Amino acid sequence: MLLSPGVNAAADSDAVAYRRHVMRAMGEQVAALALVLQKRGPAENAALHARTIALAAQAAVKAFEVQAPGGEARPEIWRRWPDFEKRLKALSADANELAVIAERDGIAAAEAKAMSVLTCKSCHDAYRSRQAR
Ligand code: HEC
Repeated sequence: MLLSPGVNAAADSDAVAYRRHVMRAMGEQVAALALVLQKRGPAENAALHARTIALAAQAAVKAFEVQAPGGEARPEIWRRWPDFEKRLKALSADANELAVIAERDGIAAAEAKAMSVLTCKSCHDAYRSRQAR
């Protein structure tokens, strides 16, 4: 459920900090997974990182439900909430699928799939104001 705009600044800044922590966690997990897929990290952790990305994307849905402007979040997030939410849910589902592929078919198969799954940029282009990455 989409929550109405925050009623006080303190709660708003908590909401901004919270969603940024969740996004950063996702960024770190993607970086770790990328090393693993390049065989520069432990192969047995590939599925674990993919599942963690799935969980973070799930956490992000709740994190962004609070309509708190700030950070690099564009107001379009809440104006086009169904699209925004759909993108996060798709990322979560795809990352779970990536975990299954990593376990079942190995690192090479996961690497091929990872390219299409970890589509972070299109959402950032649409909904994030400053393009740090
Ligand atoms: C559904 C849209 C969406 C998707 C998908 C998405 N992001 Fe984000 N991301 C955002 C928005 C919006 C912000 C800005 C949040 C803010 O500043 O309040 C953001 C911010 C970030 C930040 C900066 C956090 C900070 O403030 O330090 C990182 C890192 C990040 N995302 C990583 C990722 C990675 C990695 C992926 C893909 C695995 C991803 N994001 C997918 C919407 C998305």
